[in-house]
Amino acid sequence: MLLEVRDLYVEFRTRDGVAKAVNGVTYSVDAGETLAVLGESGSGKSVTAQAVMGILDTPPGRITGGEVLFRGRDLLKLKEDARRAVRGAEMAMIFQDALSSLNPVLTVGDQLGEMFVVHRGMSRKDARAKAVELMDRVRIPAARERVGQYPHQFSGGMRQRIMIAMAMALEPALIIADEPTTALDVTVQAQVMELLAELRRELGMGLILITHDLGVVADVADRIAVMYAGRIVETAPVHDIYKAPAHPYTQGLLDSIPRLDHKGRELYAIKGLPPNLTAIPPGCPFHPRCPRARDVCRIDVPPLYRVSEERRSACHFWEETVDASSA
Ligand SMILES: Nc1ncnc2c1ncn2[C@@H]1O[C@H](COP(=O)(O)OP(=O)(O)OP(=O)(O)O)[C@@H](O)[C@H]1O
Ligand code: SF4
Ligand SMILES: [Mg+2]
Repeated sequence: MLLEVRDLYVEFRTRDGVAKAVNGVTYSVDAGETLAVLGESGSGKSVTAQAVMGILDTPPGRITGGEVLFRGRDLLKLKEDARRAVRGAEMAMIFQDALSSLNPVLTVGDQLGEMFVVHRGMSRKDARAKAVELMDRVRIPAARERVGQYPHQFSGGMRQRIMIAMAMALEPALIIADEPTTALDVTVQAQVMELLAELRRELGMGLILITHDLGVVADVADRIAVMYAGRIVETAPVHDIYKAPAHPYTQGLLDSIPRLDHKGRELYAIKGLPPNLTAIPPGCPFHPRCPRARDVCRIDVPPLYRVSEERRSACHFWEETVDASSA
């Protein structure tokens, strides 16, 4: 397995108390595989990714438990310089907002080339040639002419391609893309997603794709992990989830995406709000919002039940949920 996150815990000290942002997350990604991580805002998707990458804001954030095994090594046990060597070369991250991730006063060629100068000891001239090659690879037209331009001279979609080029420069084994297309308009979103999927296939990388958007996931992901209140509530192969969710929260997410075949039907919205992370409800954290909740749900924390070989659900009533959703 390329990456295995095991029972990860992250807390933030805030004025209102300790916010339990990540509460025992376990997920894995293999080489060549795409794992989509879904969940509402505040569910801990980004914080988990930051802990994996070693870029968590510490303080106020703190990892309080768990392991991040990358090719069998626990990254949480590495010293900062060893950790830095992994970042960029072996795993890289793509963020939502390319404009604030790129340096406005350096040309894109210099920023892309820097990767090769720093990590590969290349000359400036060779690094620039590499930068052009990368820009070609992410299909930026007229790369040779545009390599000397600054980030603001590119459109949002082209800037996001530059971010992708930067992330894949050193051909890392794992890329984490955190809402990589959210800031783009719909057609550009689809192009960038397609590019990402294509490069993943070509390079055989593992990809973790964090997104709110269940709509985009069907085409690109192999497996899905659904997060709620800092926990994984369901993991499964994509087609299983679409066929019949095994957790009422996943069901709610699915029912709230617009579907052509359900035209005219009122769009469902999960009622209520995500929990306050300084006071997560006891038992199943989803119970205040769950249409299936019963007394036991208010008391017993559901473990990740084994639904099938490849599938887990943190719902006491997962069987009922599958039956109802496949009916
Ligand atoms: N720098 C920080 N300081 C304090 N609390 C933080 C910080 N970063 C994250 N948190 C806490 O962790 C929670 C989870 O945040 P995270 O960014 O992982 O959510 P997310 O699932 O990525 O949401 P979104 O979809 O909005 O990006 C937040 O709701 C917040 O309570
Ligand atoms: S355990 Fe209970 S409250 Fe939680 S998702 Fe299942 S039915 Fe709903
Ligand atoms: Mg996020």
